[in-house]
Amino acid sequence: MDEQVKRMLMRSAMDHLGNAYAPYSGFFVSAALLTEDGSVFYGVNCENASYPSGICAERAAFSAAVSAGHRRFAAIAIVGGKQGKIEGICAPCGICRQVMREFCDPAAFLILLGTGEDDIREYTLDALLPESFGPANLGR
Ligand code: THU
Repeated sequence: MDEQVKRMLMRSAMDHLGNAYAPYSGFFVSAALLTEDGSVFYGVNCENASYPSGICAERAAFSAAVSAGHRRFAAIAIVGGKQGKIEGICAPCGICRQVMREFCDPAAFLILLGTGEDDIREYTLDALLPESFGPANLGR
């Protein structure tokens, strides 16, 4: 993937971090999801007074993209930090990795983690979710 595209995705995730709704944890997360046809969808974590009702940024981004009719994805950039201050990488939780697995080729889908456009670490979904369970296990 083009380096400029990776930087654009990281920048986009950072630009939306302030939209995170995290009054309970104080931990803001933002994700920018790139479809295979070049569209970008955003998600932030959206917490709830009934804690389990909250949703992570990554799954919010997938829900937005799938709701708009997209099923094929190339990459996701994720950033996060306490009160929106990015101090280190923000790795996706296990549930979010599994949601990525539903729609993405584990060997090809890229997860971009970093603290800015000049600090982007790149992982395949396979690297972050090895030996995974997916649609093929259920014949799909
Ligand atoms: N969070 C995400 O949005 N994505 C992750 O992958 C990890 C955790 C959110 C959930 C919750 O609102 C806050 O970060 C603290 O767990």
